Amino acid sequence: MKKKIIKLVETDITTLSVDVIVNAANSSLLGGGGVDGAIHRAAGPELLTECRTLNGCPTSEAKITKGYKLPARFVIHTVGPIWRGGNHEETHLLAECYRNTFKIAQTQHLETIAFPAISTGAYGFPVKVAAKIAVRETMIAAMQIPFLKQVIFVCFTPETREAYEEALQ
Ligand code: APR
Repeated sequence: MKKKIIKLVETDITTLSVDVIVNAANSSLLGGGGVDGAIHRAAGPELLTECRTLNGCPTSEAKITKGYKLPARFVIHTVGPIWRGGNHEETHLLAECYRNTFKIAQTQHLETIAFPAISTGAYGFPVKVAAKIAVRETMIAAMQIPFLKQVIFVCFTPETREAYEEALQ
């Protein structure tokens, strides 16, 4: 069963030596707080320099950069939707974040990837709903990408961990 490739960890995503870590960015791609701030701090200033060349990123889309001082080789920056009550296409846009991220991982032949709980912090997306979307899109990607070896969901809070455990049932 493809679920085997999914792993839950409770750690700082910037410590993971995987092919690529995913950043929950904003549309400017010029850094911010939360996981975005942590990734930029750990990667060093060259990350922002490369981000400046990308001209931002629309919500639900994704762009790849190098990892610089991070143990991860690459960073895929994706911009999650801000939760506005649930009837502004938020669930579709979040699912697209995962699909677009996996599309880049496939073209770049990346085998191990770590995600934060995109949109569930500053962007206020309900974590139980977000976790189900993350798991569902990962199961679909795992069937489409034969070389996908491991998908790590980083649960930075106990609530996030519970939501992913539940989504994996
Ligand atoms: N490692 C892993 N996960 C982390 C880390 C970290 N170092 N720091 C925070 N998180 C978790 C949060 O606990 C939350 O579960 O990442 C998840 C996403 O939260 P945010 O980082 O707030 O991202 P998001 O909700 O998508 O909001 C994005 O916040 O930081 C700004 O520039 C960013 O404007 C953008 C917005």
